[in-house]
Amino acid sequence: MASLLVSLSCLCAAVVGFPFRTPLDLDVTPRVTVLSSGLQGCRRFQSSAVNYSTLLLEADSERLYVGARGAVFALSASDISASSALTIEWEASSEQKRECVLKGKDNKTECFNHIRLLQRFNSTHLYMCGTHAFKPLCAYIDEKEFVMSSQPEEGRDKCPYGPTTGYTALIIDQQIYTASQYEFWSFPDIRRNSPPPSLKTEDAPTRWLNEADFVGSALVRESLGSSSGDDDKIYYFFTEKNQEQSSTYSHRRVARVARVCKGDRGGRLTLQKRWTSFLKSRLTCSLPEYDFHFNVLRSVFVMHGLTPQDTLFYGIFGLEWKNVKASAVCRFSLPEVEEAFQGPYMENQGSGSNWREYVGKIPDPRPGTCITDSLRDRGIKVSTSLPDEVLDFVRRHPLMSKQVQPVDRRPLLFRRTTDYTHMAVHMVQGLDEQMYHVLYMGTDEGWLHKAVDVKGQLHIIEEIQLFKEPQPVNNLLLSTKQMSVYASCPSGVVQLPLSNCRRYASCYDCVFARDPHCAWNGAACVDVMTQANRSALIQDIQHGRTGCEKTQYNVVQRSRSVRVGDDVLLQCELSSNLATPLWTLNGTEVQGYDLNSGFRTGTDGLLIIEAQQDQSGLYTCHAVENNIRVAVVTYNVTINLDLPPSPPVKPTHSLFATLPAPSQGLSSESSSSEGPQKPLLLLSPKNMEAVYLSLITVLGALCVVLAVVLVYVGFCLRVGQRGKYSLRAAAAAHPSSKRSRKQHRNSSNMELKTVSSHCNGNGFCNGVSKRHNADIQDDGFLHIVPGEGHTSPNKEPPPPAPPLPPTSQFPSPECDFPNGLSATLPSVLRRMNGNSYVLLRQSDSENTSPLCYPFADELNKILEKRKHTLLLPRPDESSV
Ligand SMILES: *[C@@H]1O[C@H](CO)[C@@H](O)[C@H](O)[C@H]1NC(C)=O
Ligand SMILES: *[C@@H]1O[C@H](CO)[C@@H](O)[C@H](O)[C@H]1NC(C)=O
Ligand SMILES: *[C@@H]1O[C@H](CO)[C@@H](O)[C@H](O)[C@H]1NC(C)=O
Ligand SMILES: *[C@@H]1O[C@H](CO)[C@@H](O)[C@H](O)[C@H]1NC(C)=O
Ligand SMILES: *[C@@H]1O[C@H](CO)[C@@H](O)[C@H](O)[C@H]1NC(C)=O
Ligand SMILES: *[C@@H]1O[C@H](CO)[C@@H](O)[C@H](O)[C@H]1NC(C)=O
Repeated sequence: MASLLVSLSCLCAAVVGFPFRTPLDLDVTPRVTVLSSGLQGCRRFQSSAVNYSTLLLEADSERLYVGARGAVFALSASDISASSALTIEWEASSEQKRECVLKGKDNKTECFNHIRLLQRFNSTHLYMCGTHAFKPLCAYIDEKEFVMSSQPEEGRDKCPYGPTTGYTALIIDQQIYTASQYEFWSFPDIRRNSPPPSLKTEDAPTRWLNEADFVGSALVRESLGSSSGDDDKIYYFFTEKNQEQSSTYSHRRVARVARVCKGDRGGRLTLQKRWTSFLKSRLTCSLPEYDFHFNVLRSVFVMHGLTPQDTLFYGIFGLEWKNVKASAVCRFSLPEVEEAFQGPYMENQGSGSNWREYVGKIPDPRPGTCITDSLRDRGIKVSTSLPDEVLDFVRRHPLMSKQVQPVDRRPLLFRRTTDYTHMAVHMVQGLDEQMYHVLYMGTDEGWLHKAVDVKGQLHIIEEIQLFKEPQPVNNLLLSTKQMSVYASCPSGVVQLPLSNCRRYASCYDCVFARDPHCAWNGAACVDVMTQANRSALIQDIQHGRTGCEKTQYNVVQRSRSVRVGDDVLLQCELSSNLATPLWTLNGTEVQGYDLNSGFRTGTDGLLIIEAQQDQSGLYTCHAVENNIRVAVVTYNVTINLDLPPSPPVKPTHSLFATLPAPSQGLSSESSSSEGPQKPLLLLSPKNMEAVYLSLITVLGALCVVLAVVLVYVGFCLRVGQRGKYSLRAAAAAHPSSKRSRKQHRNSSNMELKTVSSHCNGNGFCNGVSKRHNADIQDDGFLHIVPGEGHTSPNKEPPPPAPPLPPTSQFPSPECDFPNGLSATLPSVLRRMNGNSYVLLRQSDSENTSPLCYPFADELNKILEKRKHTLLLPRPDESSV
C-alpha cells in the first residue's frame, strides 16, 4: 500500500506540471454497440492465408481482389463468402526465406511474401508487388484467367522490403508512382518508376523528405476543365520528422501533404531525374482551445467531387505517443491545399539553422508550379526547359510556410481510447434533401464505426465488432453498387451492408439513430433506398428528435412477485449508449440516488433493496435520449408478506450467498488488513477488546490512506494525460467499453459502483483495497502508460490483471443468452456483511473474450433448491 501510494504520488507530481486538460466533453460515444455475435448480413472470407491487406474493387466485373500473405484472391463482390474464390498462390521460396532469416529478419512476420501493391495496369492486366521475404518482386496478373502472366520482375524500386513500412502506390496511365522508405537504410522517396525518365526526390543539399512515413496518395485530374491548361497532380500524405522546430510547435513529427505534377519530366542539368514540381506543406489537426495537436497522420481518404476543386481529403490523425490512444478526424479541401502551395516558401540557411519564411525575390516562372498554357506560350513546354535559377530555387525550398487548416477549422471528431486505422466515406442524400457524408472507420482492435457528419460534427451511429479477437483493420473499401463495406484484417475479410435499419425496433430508435440510410415507414425502420414512395417516411438526421410523436410503440410488460425483505432487480437494458434510464413508480419518478430510499438505479436495472410491502406498484423504465422519454418496460411488482416462517436468513439472499464469500472471492495477494483478520476468530474473548481496538485503528488508518489515494487519483484524472506518464480513468471514461460507458452515463449510475460511505467492517475495506489493486492492474480502471522513449522492458505497461478465479466469474453485461435475455446483473453486485455492496469489475471484455457467466443457469439451480419457498409458478431471473 505504501509503495502504491508513493508511486501514485510520484505519477501525480509528474503530470501536475502540464496545463493540458483532457477534453472529455468532446469525446464522441457511439450510440449503439453491436458485438460480432449479433452481426446481421455479414459475410466473411477466410482461408489458410493471413494478413489480408490490399483491396481492389472492380465495379464492372463485380470482383473484389484481395492481397494477403503469400496469396491473391479474386472474390465475388456481391458475396465474398461464396465458394467461387479464385486464388493465385505466391509465396517466397524456402531458400529465399532462409536468406531473409540470415539477414536478421523476423521469420514470423517479415520473411513472407506480403502483397503490398495490387492495382489495375491496363484493360486486361493487374499489377502486383510483394515483399517476397525482403527481396521485393512484382508481376502482372492476367485478369481473365486470374493467373500470373509472366515471370516476376525486380520490385526493389517499387515496393518496400517489409510488411509494415509506410507505403503508397498509384498506377496512372500505366505509370507506377510509389512512395516509401524502400530499404531500411535508404532515404524515403517519391518515385515514378516507369516509363523513363524515372523521377525521384532530392536528398541534397536540402533533404526533401525526413524519415517520411507515407499513408496515402491521390491523383486529382486538375487538367479537366482547367482554363489555364493546368496539369494533373498527385498528392502525397505522410508524417515526417519536424524540421521547423519553433517555440510554438515543438513536436518531433509533423503531418504533411506534398504534391507533384503528372507531366513532370525532371530538369535538364539541375534536378536531372528529380521532380521539378515537388512542394510540401503542413496539415494541421488540433484542438485549439486545448493547444493540443494531432501530429501523426495515420490514413487518408480522398473524396472526389463533381469537379476537381470539390475534392476533399479526410485524414485520421493520432498522437505522437504510441502508448496513448486517441484519434481525430480532420477534413481538408483541395483549394486550401493549393492556396498553401501558392503562398510564401520557407528557407533554411545551411544545416543547423532554423527554417524561416523566405522573404526574398521569387524567380519567374514560380518555382514548383506545373507547366500551364502561359508557360507554353513562353516556349516552356516541358519541365526540362525551366531555367536553372527556378530549378535551383525548387531544390532548396521544398517547404511552404502556410499551413493547411481543416475545412471546419477543428476536427470533425475527437475520440479518446480509440485508434482508428482506416476510413472510407460516401455521400447519402437525406429525406431533407441535404447531402450527408457517412464515414466508416476501422479501429486497431477490429471494430468498425459508422458516423454521419452533421454540421461539422460527427455523430457515431454505431460501433460494430468485426472480429472477436482484437486485430487491426488493414484496409476499408466502400461499394455503393453492392451497398457494402469491405474490411480486410489479419485473419480475414468482412463484408457488411452499408446499413442495417432493421436493428432499430421502434420509430424513436430509428429517428434517434440519425442514420441517413434509414427511415421509419410507420411499421418498421427501413432502408430509404428500397422505398418507392418516400413521402410518408420519418427521419431526422439534423436533431434525431422529431417525427414519432404520433406513433405507437410496445412496452414490454412483466410482473414480479416477491417476499418482504428480498432484494429485487428489475432489469432494463437500454439499446442506446446515449440514453439514460429513468424509473417511475405508479407514475412518479423513483429517486434512486439516495442511499436511504431503498432503491438503487444501476446501469441495467433498478434494485429494490430489502423490499417493503409499500414498495409494491407499477414500475416503468424509460430511456431518456435527446430529452425525449420513451418507456421501455413496466414491471407490476407485488411484495408479499413472508407468511410461512422462512428458512435461515442467509439463504434468503441465496443468489449472493451462493457466490463465494468475500474473503474467498477477493483472495490472493497482499492487503495489509487481511493479515491479522483470520487469526482473530481464534482468539479468546479476553483479547477481543484489544484486538477490536487495534483493528479499528488499523482500519481507520487504512481508510485515511485510501482517502488520500483517492484524492490523488482524482486529481490525476482531472489533470489528464500528457508527458512521461499518462493516467487514464478508464472505468470512468473508457468510451470503448460499453459497460463502463454505461456506468458513466449519468451520476446516478455511479451509485452502484460506490461502496457505502462509512467504513463498516472488513468487507468494505477489503473490497476497497482490492479495488485499488485492481485499479492498478486491471486495464479497465486506471491505466499507467509509460511514455515514448521508455524502451527498457521493465518500464513496459503493467501486465494485465490475472484472470479472476473461476468462482468469481460474474455475468458480463455483454453476454447474450439463447432465451433472449441478457444476463445483466449490474456488473457484479455482492452482498457483504449484510449492509453494503461491493462492485467488482471484470477486465475489459473488448480486449479479452468475454467470460460468459451463465447467470440464468445459476439462477435455475438456486431456484431448484428453493422450490418450496416459491411464490410464482414460473419465476424469472430477478425474483430472488
Ligand atoms: C499477420 O497476421 C498475424 C496474425 O494473424 C499477426 O500476428 C501479424 O502481426 C500480422 N503481420 C502483419 C505484418 O500484419
Ligand atoms: C523461427 O526461428 C526460430 C529460431 O530462430 C524457430 O524456433 C522457429 O520455429 C522459426 N519459426 C518459423 C515459423 O519458421
Ligand atoms: C496490358 O499489359 C500487359 C503487360 O505489359 C500486356 O501483356 C498486355 O498486352 C496489355 N494489354 C493491353 C490491352 O494493352
Ligand atoms: C405515397 O404515400 C402517401 C401517404 O401514404 C400517399 O398519399 C401518396 O398517394 C403515395 N404516393 C404514391 C405515388 O403512391
Ligand atoms: C401503486 O399503486 C398500487 C395500486 O395501483 C398500490 O397498491 C400501491 O401501494 C402503490 N404504490 C405506491 C408506492 O404508491
Ligand atoms: C399487478 O398484479 C396483481 C397481482 O399480481 C394484480 O392484482 C394487479 O391488477 C396487477 N396490476 C396491474 C396494473 O396490472
